[in-house]
Amino acid sequence: MLVEKVNHGAFSVVTIRRPESLNALNREVLDRLDEVLDSLVQEVPRVIRAVVVTGEGSKAFVAGADIKQMAQLSASEALSFSQRGQEVFNKLAHLPVPVVAAVNGYALGGGLELALACDWIWATPNAVFGLPEVGLGLIPGFGGTARLVQKIGPSKAYEMILTGRRLNAEEAMRWGLINEIFASDQLLPQTVQRLESLLQLGPLAVSQAKRLLLKGQATWLHQALEDERESFADLFNLKDVREGMQAFMQKRKPQFKGE
Ligand code: CAA
Repeated sequence: MLVEKVNHGAFSVVTIRRPESLNALNREVLDRLDEVLDSLVQEVPRVIRAVVVTGEGSKAFVAGADIKQMAQLSASEALSFSQRGQEVFNKLAHLPVPVVAAVNGYALGGGLELALACDWIWATPNAVFGLPEVGLGLIPGFGGTARLVQKIGPSKAYEMILTGRRLNAEEAMRWGLINEIFASDQLLPQTVQRLESLLQLGPLAVSQAKRLLLKGQATWLHQALEDERESFADLFNLKDVREGMQAFMQKRKPQFKGE
């Protein structure tokens, strides 16, 4: 993971770097992100005024939780993995400064869930958004079932979560999932340029506004996340989830039997 300070230290850009796995999130990446967030907390909001999260390369933001690592997990380990992802994403969501996801390609599963934990999403034209977990015999486990509904409303969220439908950048704009599309080579420069307007604002007022926005959803979100991780872990007792993950690793279509 790369952490860079830009604009004389006013913004921090955090880049998830596992390009050989399309930046998939394994336990180690989650732990490292947690450490990075702990260090950022020392400097927000007075020094660091915004945080940008992105992925290495132009193909993927993050292609999800690491399926190869998840395939080894028991149900109780899956519960702990889901809890860890939710915890780290909650920490990101609660940073008292604006947090932007700069999405440069695939944002699938845990990748979309990471973007949803940010305050808003700016993306490139080749971005693809989806929660494809049902295709693995799984459900989202890092907050997606709760945060997608909040972001785009139930009707569209149901369609994405229950069918695994993927959206391209234009569709994601129309569905209210993302706020802007920037050319691929302009994503980070434009992101930083747009964030400069924050420097004219009262940092403590921005933090307080964000705190209130989060507070309105806190009780519901807390319960929804607990329910999500329990359901996520329960599925690890089924043959279908083993088949779904094996099929992904063997690059074939899964044969689900509802078992
Ligand atoms: N986990 C682990 N490895 C992954 C990965 C993931 N989520 N996504 C991609 N990779 C790996 C591939 O296995 C491949 O590795 P090898 O070269 O060793 O075979 C490498 O990254 C490149 O990927 P592809 O060859 O598949 O690239 P592609 O261009 O053909 O397809 C893709 C790109 C459509 C994004 C495809 O990789 C894909 O479907 N990935 C999985 C997406 C997914 O299902 N995400 C949800 C995961 S579950 C989850 O996130 C649960 C949760 O909520 C906690």
